[in-house]
Amino acid sequence: MSKNKEFVKFEKVDKSYDGKILVVKDLNLDISEGEFITMLGPSGSGKTTCLMMLAGFETPTNGEIYLDKNPISNIPPHKRGIGMVFQNYALFPHMTVYENLAFPLRVRKISKDDADKKIDKALSMVSLSGFENRMPGQLSGGQQQRVAVARALVFDPSVVLMDEPLGALDKKFKRKHAI
Ligand SMILES: Nc1ncnc2c1ncn2[C@@H]1O[C@H](COP(=O)(O)OP(=O)(O)OP(=O)(O)O)[C@@H](O)[C@H]1O
Ligand SMILES: [Mg+2]
Repeated sequence: MSKNKEFVKFEKVDKSYDGKILVVKDLNLDISEGEFITMLGPSGSGKTTCLMMLAGFETPTNGEIYLDKNPISNIPPHKRGIGMVFQNYALFPHMTVYENLAFPLRVRKISKDDADKKIDKALSMVSLSGFENRMPGQLSGGQQQRVAVARALVFDPSVVLMDEPLGALDKKFKRKHAI
């Protein structure tokens, strides 16, 4: 089967927060399956707003966003199959690393056995095997970001959104993990 060239599609999307100024204006963007895309632009130019609309935490003022050909405006965030790492990489502070990763799996009703396997794999991917029982406050900034990345990937989402999540990571780490 050929790749879906319009796996994510922004069609004539405008966004205004105040009903006057458009912070996103007539955005038309097709992203194909397997594609890695980076948005570049000055501070305040609307990058986070685009990710929030795709994830479902903001709604477009005009236009529509499609995911695998379906309009997503009526699908709640947790049913969109989208993993997200926020700009401030907020982990749940009162939960261990293991519990942080188990959360998105529990929401999706994955069995404990499968969840444990997925958590092992995700932690090993960010070189944090063995950190399961730490609290976020007991980790360095870069380690917290890596847990946030693992939490976004652990449920095998069809789309992963990362809002500058790797600022605290050094070049060597990024090269090793090809990110
Ligand atoms: N919840 C909100 N309510 C009102 N205005 C907002 C809201 N969120 C963002 N904005 C405004 O919308 C514009 C775009 O913001 P956005 O966060 O999308 O920019 P950005 O490109 O991600 O910037 P940065 O590189 O600084 O993260 C900015 O002018 C911002 O002040
Ligand atoms: Mg931003």
